[in-house]
Amino acid sequence: MNSPRFSILVAMAKNRVIGRNNALPWQLSPDLKRFKQLTMGHHIVMGRKTYESIGRPLPGRISVIVSRQSDYQAPGAIVVGSIAEALKVCNEDKEMDQESFVIGGAEIYQQALGLCQRMYVTEIQQEFDGDALFPEFNQQEWHEISREKHRLDGDDGLEYHFVVLDRKI
Ligand SMILES: NC(=O)c1ccc[n+]([C@@H]2O[C@H](COP(=O)([O-])OP(=O)(O)OC[C@H]3O[C@@H](n4cnc5c(N)ncnc54)[C@H](OP(=O)(O)O)[C@@H]3O)[C@@H](O)[C@H]2O)c1
Repeated sequence: MNSPRFSILVAMAKNRVIGRNNALPWQLSPDLKRFKQLTMGHHIVMGRKTYESIGRPLPGRISVIVSRQSDYQAPGAIVVGSIAEALKVCNEDKEMDQESFVIGGAEIYQQALGLCQRMYVTEIQQEFDGDALFPEFNQQEWHEISREKHRLDGDDGLEYHFVVLDRKI
């Protein structure tokens, strides 16, 4: 791979919901495990609200927090004033990091979608109530390269798919 890739990583419900009251509306531990596997050792770019919902920099990753507050403090993380600046920080480290992940939330996905070449989507096959949505995007511009179907055992048997989409050139 010659140039570093920016990838979106998101879990979304059937009705595009990704969050409620600044938290995830579901408990889906296989998704958290996948999140960890994919992002370990990489830069993760997130909005200030998502950072606060996580509450700390995630170990083993470089957290890049986007905020318009020039004095925003996030010890152990890098705070930047724009998405462009966030991507620049990731690019500067391209020898080390060939793939950086935009991990939300809604505002950041909206602005970063056009800059990303890949999306790792956990499609939750159920609707949820929520106040944060993944932006609409043109499916024609994306090529589905893989889809793994899973279902939680027991409990509610929630069905979810791990999908990888690449932007068509
Ligand atoms: N399901 C998933 O995969 C997933 C992933 C991540 C998050 N979420 C959910 O998404 C929700 C949070 O999303 P959100 O849209 O409310 O917030 P967000 O995107 O996490 O953060 C928004 C904040 O980012 C900063 N920001 C946005 N655009 C900026 C720009 N162009 N330049 C500088 N700073 C900018 C601003 O921070 P300041 O106000 O500090 O200026 C803004 O208030 C939560 O419910 C969370 O649980 C879900």
